[in-house]
Amino acid sequence: MLTKRSYIDRIHPEVELLREGSEWLRSGELVAFPTETVYGLGASALDALACEKIFWVKGRPQDNPLIVHVSNRAMANKLVERWTPEAELCVQHFWPGPLTLVLPKTALVPDVVTAGLANVAVRMPSHPVALGLIEETGLPIAAPSANLSGKPSPTSGSHVWRDMKGKIPLILDAGACQVGVESTVLDVTGGVPTILRPGGISKEMLEEILGEVRMNTLTDNRVPKAPGMKYRHYAPQGDMIVMVGLQERVIQRMGQEIQKGHARLKKVGVLCTLESAPFLHSRLPDLLFVLGSKHRSEEVASNLFEGLRLCDERGVDIILAEGIEEGGLGAAIMNRLQKASGHRIEYI
Ligand code: TXA
Ligand code: MG
Repeated sequence: MLTKRSYIDRIHPEVELLREGSEWLRSGELVAFPTETVYGLGASALDALACEKIFWVKGRPQDNPLIVHVSNRAMANKLVERWTPEAELCVQHFWPGPLTLVLPKTALVPDVVTAGLANVAVRMPSHPVALGLIEETGLPIAAPSANLSGKPSPTSGSHVWRDMKGKIPLILDAGACQVGVESTVLDVTGGVPTILRPGGISKEMLEEILGEVRMNTLTDNRVPKAPGMKYRHYAPQGDMIVMVGLQERVIQRMGQEIQKGHARLKKVGVLCTLESAPFLHSRLPDLLFVLGSKHRSEEVASNLFEGLRLCDERGVDIILAEGIEEGGLGAAIMNRLQKASGHRIEYI
């Protein structure tokens, strides 16, 4: 298939391009588009066949449900059977934005979208291109991240191009995504709201509005509620180790690992904070990628997937990543680093 990559204005998306995207979507095809978190691979959420294509193109396991994106509340109402007071509060405070709400679905939502679950995950993105595309299509859009299954999520049009070229008719490219990690997935079906996947809206932000909020992780629940959480994700080709602890000790450990790697003729890449970069630079890794300041988790979040993808592009064999504190977006960042490394974390 011939893939067209159209550059679209991030703030004032060109109407002709939105229209082109919506025509493909309405005819049952897939379109990749930017959101404020990561790029999505969209299909009409009401078209079961189109949604099946998403699984096929990504190589995604059939039991991993899709998030449905809406541009207004009326559209969401058609998908959700029953809204809880917690869900209402979330809509008021965090929509449009990087928060996905899990709620009971209506019969309108095809089973393929929810992987047979009784709940649907709904989100109103804040990116003008995403909102414009959904509005122009007049349909809710099911969209997972627009990467091949298992790979780091795409945070730029170039990432999508690399993964989706030849597989879909259109990529709307609006450059880099702002948030850089995916939305928070929150179960608000009743009882204490539970984070199924940490993301762009932090637990602290949710607690301010909702009171008690739980974190549902693989470690405290063998049967994950967000089915996607059980798969290996974001995995770069190289062997990856995440190092957490006192800065000097982490730098020292990384220095040792760089030497060990080089002795085995391996290419070693380092993903680190701005604060550690000068010290690690002198240890001569083959790639040094600065994620951002440890005091600005938003910066680290927005660069994370770019760093992971760069390691693959440069053929890095061993990836050493510096962990960051869990507050704010730190929880989402550590979650992605854990998964990318296959849970290889060294506490130093
Ligand atoms: O920021 C985002 O959420 C991006 C952009 C494109 O919106 N989308 C995204 O989709 O990250 P995806 O498919 O890569 O991840 C969706 C996550 C998975 O962990 C999936 O299992 C969970 O949401 N999920 C989807 N539907 C669900 C449902 N009905 N119940 C529980 N978890 C669900
Ligand atoms: Mg994904």
